Amino acid sequence: LKDPIRIVITGAAGQIAYSLIHQICSGDVFGQDQPVILHLLDITPMMTVLQGVVMEIEDTSLPLVKGAIPTDDLETAFKNVDVALFVGAMPRKEGMERKDLLSANVKIFKSQGTALDTYANKNVKVLVVGNPANTNCYILAHYAPSIPRENFTCLTRLDHNRAKGQIASRLKVSPDAVKNVIIWGNHSSTQFPDVRSATVTIHGKETPVYEAVKDDNWLKNDFVSTVQKRGAAVIAARKLSSAMSAAKAICDHMRDWWHGTNENEWVSMGIISDGSYDIEKGLVFSYPIEIKNGKLSIVQDLKMDDWSRELIDKTQKELVEEKNDALKATDPE
Ligand code: NAI
Repeated sequence: LKDPIRIVITGAAGQIAYSLIHQICSGDVFGQDQPVILHLLDITPMMTVLQGVVMEIEDTSLPLVKGAIPTDDLETAFKNVDVALFVGAMPRKEGMERKDLLSANVKIFKSQGTALDTYANKNVKVLVVGNPANTNCYILAHYAPSIPRENFTCLTRLDHNRAKGQIASRLKVSPDAVKNVIIWGNHSSTQFPDVRSATVTIHGKETPVYEAVKDDNWLKNDFVSTVQKRGAAVIAARKLSSAMSAAKAICDHMRDWWHGTNENEWVSMGIISDGSYDIEKGLVFSYPIEIKNGKLSIVQDLKMDDWSRELIDKTQKELVEEKNDALKATDPE
C-alpha cells in the first residue's frame, strides 16, 4: 500500500458528501492501493451530525480509511491536504438575490482560499462543487495565490454526464457508447452542452452523434435546454438538489484527473482559462479537457460556427458579470 493521502471535504455533513464519502473510502476514485485520511469540514451547528457521519465511516470497516477527522476549524481542515473537495456553500434561500448569494459565498471562499493557501500542500488538487461553482472557484483561486493555477477546477462533469445520458437514451444505447460531449462555460442554465464533435458506437461502428440522431432540430433545441435545466427539474421533483448523481460526477472528475483520460477521449471541467477559444483569460470556464500524467490540457482547434459561438459568448458574458459582482463583494483591503 502507498502512503495515505489527505482529502478535505467541505460541507461534509450535507447530502452530496453523504453519497460521496463511501465511494472515496472504497478506493473507487484514487485506487485500491491508495489509503486515505479524510478531513471533514462543516459549520459549528453541524458538528453533531458530522459525528454521526464519522461513526458511519467507522462502521463501513473499509480498509483504505486511515482516519476521519471531523472539524469546524479551517487549519485542521486544510492542514497538509493533497485533495480539496469544496462541496459546502451558502444555499440560495427564498427571496435571495443573486448578488446576496454571491456575496455570502465570497466570504466563505475567501476565508477557505486563504486557509488553503496557508495550510495545504502546494500541489493540492482542488475541485469546487458548491454553487455558483465557477465563480466560487475564481474567488478561491484569487485568495490562494501560492497554489498553481492549473490545480483549480470546478465541477461540470454532472452536466457532461447528463448530456451523455440524454443522447444515450434517445439512441437506446449504453451511456459509455457516447464519447466526447462537451459542456462549455458556466455550471448554470447558460451552459452550452455541445455534441457537434461527439460520437456514438453502435454495433461496433463509431458514428457522429449528429448522423446517428438525424434530428438537428432536437439536438439544437430540446436536447440543449433539457441538459441546461436538468438540475432544476431534479429539484422540482425531489425537493432537494441532485446529490447521488453529483457525488458520482465528483468521483468521475477526480478519478480522471488522478489516473488520466483515455486516448482520444475528453471530459468537461471548469478550469482557469488561458484564453483558449477567445474566452477571457483567468475566468473559470468549462472546456473539453484531456488529462495525461495529472496534467490538464484543453482540446484545441474544435470547429466553431455562428450558432455555437453565440451560445459560448452568452455563457461567458454571464460568468464575467458573476466574477465582477463577486470581486465587488470582496473587501477592499
Ligand atoms: P447540503 O445543504 O445538503 O449540504 C451543504 C453542507 O455545507 C451543509 O452541511 C452546510 O452546513 C455546509 N456548509 C455551509 N457553509 C459552509 C462553510 N462555510 N464551511 C463548511 N461547510 C459549510 O447541500 P448539497 O446538496 O450537499 O450541495 C452542496 C452544494 O453543491 C450546493 O451549493 C449545491 O448547489 C452544489 N451542487 C453543485 C453541483 C455541480 O454540478 N456543480 C451539483 C449539485 C449540487
